[in-house]
Amino acid sequence: QSKRISVPQIRARKGGEPIVCLTCYHAHTARLLDEHVDLMLVGDSLGMVIHGLETTLGVTMEMMILHGQAVMRGAKKALVVVDMPFGSYEESPQLAFKNAARILAETGCQAVKLEGGVAMAETVAYLTSRGIPVMGHIGLTPQRIQIFGGFKTQGRTEAEWPAIEADAKAIAEAGAFALTLEGMAEPLAAKITKEITIPTIGIGASPLCDGQILVMEDMLGLNPTPPKFVRQYAEMGADIEAAVKAYAADVRARTFPGKENVYPMKKAG
Ligand code: KIV
Ligand code: NA
Repeated sequence: QSKRISVPQIRARKGGEPIVCLTCYHAHTARLLDEHVDLMLVGDSLGMVIHGLETTLGVTMEMMILHGQAVMRGAKKALVVVDMPFGSYEESPQLAFKNAARILAETGCQAVKLEGGVAMAETVAYLTSRGIPVMGHIGLTPQRIQIFGGFKTQGRTEAEWPAIEADAKAIAEAGAFALTLEGMAEPLAAKITKEITIPTIGIGASPLCDGQILVMEDMLGLNPTPPKFVRQYAEMGADIEAAVKAYAADVRARTFPGKENVYPMKKAG
């Protein structure tokens, strides 16, 4: 635990070296990411990315805890944050504490993330003052997709800015150690980054944010329809298809398994 990046260390990176973050849902990818990222987020996007749900609304505490446990088995150095799923925190600070405490206790992760601005500030203060580090998340918050009427970029007219800036300030002042800015106009994300004292982590936001995050599967090329804000660093979807196609051909031709893949009898004597 001593070698692991801590919540105060992430908090102290405001205005400094950019904070490298990626989502992570599995033990094996956690091991691969561990030397290269500062923070891994077990995002509720896992409901869509690996369970095939249409939105994140159907994600449960049990799903988040199961994947949080898997990631913690692979991550030894990076800070691990687990998303609070829809319905697990909005109702009251007390319900949020109960579920956040369960996430920390059952996964061993360092912090939770929850969506919302001014309306969630009291909850963020309640959790942080009772020992649970919280990462905020404002802008395009996917758990509110039914209110937005779709995955819509926020703050593209200046009339929308004051409310979003108020959300950022409320979460920072409530004691969050970092704030995710998702899907918002670039100048607004840059302005919020200057205005608040905690690190901002951008996704579809601004290069001026204090850190960046992407869904790992998106940047690896596993999403056939990635959003504009994704840069693809690999073509793993195409690689997987090519590999499976080659394997299928080998099985059909009986060229797999080969000599090197089978067990001969032990030599007698
Ligand atoms: O669930 C998720 O992956 C997230 C990130 C995109 C910030 O919340
Ligand atoms: Na999320």
